[in-house]
Amino acid sequence: MANTIFDFIGDTAGEWKVTSMTTLKGNPVTPVSHLKKVPGNLVQSETGIWTLKGIVSNLRYTEKEDKDKLVAVQEDLGRPQATLAAFIPIRKSEAWWNLAQDERRKIMENKSQHTHTGMKYLPAIARKLFHSRDIGEPFDFLTWFEYAPADADAFEELLVSLRKTEEWTYVDREIDIRLKKI
Ligand code: HEM
Repeated sequence: MANTIFDFIGDTAGEWKVTSMTTLKGNPVTPVSHLKKVPGNLVQSETGIWTLKGIVSNLRYTEKEDKDKLVAVQEDLGRPQATLAAFIPIRKSEAWWNLAQDERRKIMENKSQHTHTGMKYLPAIARKLFHSRDIGEPFDFLTWFEYAPADADAFEELLVSLRKTEEWTYVDREIDIRLKKI
């Protein structure tokens, strides 16, 4: 079975050079110069300056029609031209987690149009969502995006749109880490 647990290790060396680290909400993380993403497990002790763990999980809110569309257009990570990346750990508030599943979906998809907006930026932006909340991590989600320099402006535009939504009013910690492939 393919590994589903990954360690994102902030350190002094690694395959991605950190070009900026911006704390948008909540406590910052210790500044690092490099990041690497490696297959991990739940018992191994931490390495590097810090390690954030995430699990590739099932979809929670995406319905079949959107899932089919995503699968048809999205690109995989690791494209040679995608030399830029963003690693954005996110935590949502207790108010969010106290909502029922259908209420959360309504906020994400009906009111905030998360998938609808995001879909416009595919296949230029390759993405992967890692879940962290259920393994007692400091963030709920580790989000990862890869793109070519030519698509950097489009990525910024996407972030501006998403951060204006009702969904984002539930985000209580967000660190935006930008990376360049070495
Ligand atoms: C979840 C699509 C960009 C952060 C999701 C889901 C989809 C999606 C379909 C729902 C997964 C599920 O059903 O469980 C997209 C597309 C994007 C995009 C197509 C275009 C590139 C972004 C960006 C961010 C982001 C730029 C962060 C800055 C998240 C988070 C979740 C999520 C945190 C989990 C939300 C939750 O479960 O409460 N995305 N997304 N996404 N996305 Fe995006």
